[in-house]
Amino acid sequence: MGRGSEAIGVGEQEMDAEHDLLLGVVHALEKAVDAAPRAPVEELLKQLSELSRVHFATEEILMRLHAYPEFAAHQLEHARLVDQIEQVRTEFASGNVQPTRNFASALHHWFTEHIRSHDVALARYVRASRPASP
Ligand SMILES: [Fe+2]
Ligand SMILES: [Fe+2]
Repeated sequence: MGRGSEAIGVGEQEMDAEHDLLLGVVHALEKAVDAAPRAPVEELLKQLSELSRVHFATEEILMRLHAYPEFAAHQLEHARLVDQIEQVRTEFASGNVQPTRNFASALHHWFTEHIRSHDVALARYVRASRPASP
């Protein structure tokens, strides 16, 4: 892990590594919005958008592989997060810094809540459905 108190380990290595990356970008975004030259914020939002899509696809493949019963609900949450990120991008692109700032901290909250609930449940299910290792 290695992100101190921010770290939310779900116990699946790949998921944890990707969550660390995502939360790192969210954190950088919150800082960049306050510091406010435009370029880094735009770049971070783009990174966040791309990383999220890749990460959500990884988890959705994992869910399919394990015939995860909560697939639909979890996927819907991912779609909502993607929408939220695109909303932040739209706000920022139209020069609305204050909404961008609010959204950036909301994103942090949405991500951590998603990881704590949906992702923890998914990781638990995957572990339980895997043959016990010696
Ligand atoms: Fe996740
Ligand atoms: Fe997820």
